[in-house]
Amino acid sequence: MNREDFPMLKNDLIYFDNGATTLKPQCVINEITNYYENYSANAHRGDYDISRKVDELYEKTRDDVKEFINANKREEIIFTKGTTESMNMIIFGFMKNYLQKDDEVLITKTEHASNVLPWYTLEKEIGIKVKFIPLEDYEVTIDNVKKSINNKTKVISLAWVTNTIGDLRPIKEITKVAHDNNILMVVDGAQSVPHFKTDVLDTDIDFLAFSAHKMLGPTGVGVLYGKKDYLEQMLPLNYGGGMNSFFESDKSLEYKPLPYRLEAGTMNISGILGFRKALSYLNKIGMDKITNYEHELKDYLVKRLREIDNIEVYNENTKSGIVLFNIKNIFSEDTSQFLNHYHVCVRAGNHCAKMVKDELIIKNTCRISLYFYNTKEEIDKFINIMKGNKDIFKVII
Ligand code: ALA
Repeated sequence: MNREDFPMLKNDLIYFDNGATTLKPQCVINEITNYYENYSANAHRGDYDISRKVDELYEKTRDDVKEFINANKREEIIFTKGTTESMNMIIFGFMKNYLQKDDEVLITKTEHASNVLPWYTLEKEIGIKVKFIPLEDYEVTIDNVKKSINNKTKVISLAWVTNTIGDLRPIKEITKVAHDNNILMVVDGAQSVPHFKTDVLDTDIDFLAFSAHKMLGPTGVGVLYGKKDYLEQMLPLNYGGGMNSFFESDKSLEYKPLPYRLEAGTMNISGILGFRKALSYLNKIGMDKITNYEHELKDYLVKRLREIDNIEVYNENTKSGIVLFNIKNIFSEDTSQFLNHYHVCVRAGNHCAKMVKDELIIKNTCRISLYFYNTKEEIDKFINIMKGNKDIFKVII
């Protein structure tokens, strides 16, 4: 749907790498250009008209994000560079002071690097213990969450949908178990917020991180959501302009209240304004319509892949638009090179989730990650190309 709104789709391209980043509709591109051409001023610093206009649009974006994820308060929405920065703020700005030596944090082996490496670093720095919830058929079950908890468990930190297997976690139920045991719930929403309706109040999660560029917005913009009480305790990772009320030569100082205290320096203003257009574009289509269409496309893709004997699909039943596959006995990067020859973009490798190989046995896979502008016709073209995969080395060498 809506393909005419995406300039990139005018190229001879089948873009199946939406988990890495999505294409941008013209309205998002126009908004960025509009900012640079017509009201290019800093935010929260000027007393002139164009600066006030920027302030207004910047803060409207915050309100729109709040609505989009159904947060309680606008101060709970902090703009960041992306999911990775949001996760680092949660872990080093909050958890580093909240947790103590020997406290346990539960993750899984299918998490993305940004929900693993900051925790590993905190383990080295303050002696917490990072543990893994065992998976069943690659998925997190409530039983396994319960079995993994003990009286030292203080945090559960999970992707809502993983970027490899594409499994959808029962976040609301896991959060209930967490809260019943005084455990905080951190959610990496990079692969979920773009694809289905997110409700932080209903699920009651404590923190959420996600990126604009995976949901039609510009690169370099992300969101950190946190319950206000926790964000009040979060220390900034960046100190500087825009986040302080005053500082004096006697070293006295005062920081601004939320959300500004956590947004030091000049932010990615053009990106944030462009993000607002992306949100309204998604709202106009409707998140439920996007989810249903993606599931239909995924089922169709899996069904058609089954027609080819030498293809292995690893995650047929997961509920997302992600399909992981390999041509039997062919290295995944060779397959992606083969597809590239026909202008089909897929991701190959370990997808920044380097422990998945412990669960899947296979180290490298090809990944198709669908979005609402993909079509069954594109899938048909892809299947025809894949049917010629016996010639893969003739094509790529
Ligand atoms: N984390 C992004 C992906 O899964 C980049 O491709």
